Amino acid sequence: MKILGIESSCDETGIAIYDTQKGLIADQLYSQIELHAQYGGVVPELASRDHVRKIVPLIRQTCEEADLQLSDLDGIAYTAGPGLVGALLVGACVGRSLAWALGIPSVEVHHMEGHLLVPLMEEERPEFPFLSLLVSGGHTMLVDVQGLGQYKILGESLDDAAGEAFDKTAKMLGLPYPGGRYIAELAEQGDPKRFDFPRPMINRPGLDFSFSGLKTHTRVTWEKHRGNNNDQQLKADIAACFQLAVIDTLCRKCVRAIKQTGYRDLVIAGGVSANTLLRQMLAENGQKHGFQSYFPALNLCTDNGAMIAYAGAMRLLKQKDFNHEIHAWPRWNLESLN
Ligand code: KG4
Ligand code: ZN
Repeated sequence: MKILGIESSCDETGIAIYDTQKGLIADQLYSQIELHAQYGGVVPELASRDHVRKIVPLIRQTCEEADLQLSDLDGIAYTAGPGLVGALLVGACVGRSLAWALGIPSVEVHHMEGHLLVPLMEEERPEFPFLSLLVSGGHTMLVDVQGLGQYKILGESLDDAAGEAFDKTAKMLGLPYPGGRYIAELAEQGDPKRFDFPRPMINRPGLDFSFSGLKTHTRVTWEKHRGNNNDQQLKADIAACFQLAVIDTLCRKCVRAIKQTGYRDLVIAGGVSANTLLRQMLAENGQKHGFQSYFPALNLCTDNGAMIAYAGAMRLLKQKDFNHEIHAWPRWNLESLN
């Protein structure tokens, strides 16, 4: 079965084809980052318009890469939410219409389910059930993954998502958008011990997160010390302390969730899963506490069409009823998928 995946929930148009026999056979991505960079964040209307411009040419390009005709496709999967409603509608309209015209099924995919399942495309992958840490620009969640579509949220962020905290801190330090990877790069030249940043919600029971206080703490530190000739070193030190505080908090909550669930496998996904320090510290914690971490390939951590094609293929293999109704769900509870 060959499934075309369409991702358009935010500022990336991602199109890919997943073949249930051969694996990923084409993967194209168009990023709008340059378009939004001058505004320091995503402008929803500009995002929708750019998806309209790019989506059909990118589908053609993806078919060329796979050496396939549209008529060779067996199904279409598209991100139906959560995300920016106008951007989602572009993918939903194209996905449903194309499937209708080709007489093949189409399936709605939850963006976070796409992230969550993509590490399972790797050769070394865990069996269900397992624990998942989802860390993106919009979400931070610990999820008990009992099977396909069977998700129980054990904890989540009460305010900013981890990626969002990275992005806002980067903006404050004058780094480009989206700032996660620039903070990580700058942190390499910084001293993570110069300031003692808080680890939010660690002294409270439970698995929820909160990064907004840490973000404020970072701002106060920056404003207190800035202004001398050593601002560049100060920025690097702040980036290092901030990054360590976020990653350490994520790791400690993962260990707590592993102990609580008794699982031995942890799947990490979403844009922040590209972070090197997170990968290192989870590996160390895994050795100490007896669990194995699984990450997506680096090019599949941030938004992409492959994760939607793969999740769609898994769903199409199971699902029996199909319709052609066009919906977009800006907010969509992951637990409601079962
Ligand atoms: O999953 P994603 O592409 O989009 C959403 O679904 O939100 O995640 C994007 C987020 C951004 O906040 C970005 O700054 C963050 O992932 N990110 C990183 C790194 N690479 C991307 N954060 C920390 N370290 C990185 N290396
Ligand atoms: Zn995402």
